[in-house]
Amino acid sequence: MIGQAMQAAMNEQINKEFFSAYLYLSMAAYFEDKNLTGFAHWMRLQADEEREHAMKFYDFILDAGGHVQLKAIGAPETEWKSSLEVAEQVAAHEAKVTASINDLYELALKEKDYPAQVMLQWFISEQVEEEKNANELVAKLRLIEERGTAVLMLDHRLSKRGGEEEEE
Ligand SMILES: [Fe+2]
Ligand SMILES: [Fe+2]
Repeated sequence: MIGQAMQAAMNEQINKEFFSAYLYLSMAAYFEDKNLTGFAHWMRLQADEEREHAMKFYDFILDAGGHVQLKAIGAPETEWKSSLEVAEQVAAHEAKVTASINDLYELALKEKDYPAQVMLQWFISEQVEEEKNANELVAKLRLIEERGTAVLMLDHRLSKRGGEEEEE
């Protein structure tokens, strides 16, 4: 059985993961507006992953005999100054999520919740990937700066995510 503190913290995490999905969908719409369809595609897939993250916590709570409590999802921003600003926000957001996952793991250690520890180890590895991808995007966009053609090349590359080439 899941403990009350872990259940409450995981219900909060479900909300954070859905907010991440909302944020990335909002970013996808921003890129669609700018005709950067590759960036938009990448953000949509990122949003899909966040929904999957939310559902992992949802299923874990139910499997552990707990109660899922869905909370209101806040409205994400809709406007950014540049692609770089979007990428920087993704990186900052993922760093926050990593801190939140680490807090959950601390709680699982404190509560001696071994199933939660095992489940959260997946998220700890996943956050390494998430932060790496976001930081790479920031670094590439900083290199590109105002060179419009390079942005289009990166847009094309991002459009390949989920295809035959390796996962981004
Ligand atoms: Fe996530
Ligand atoms: Fe994420």
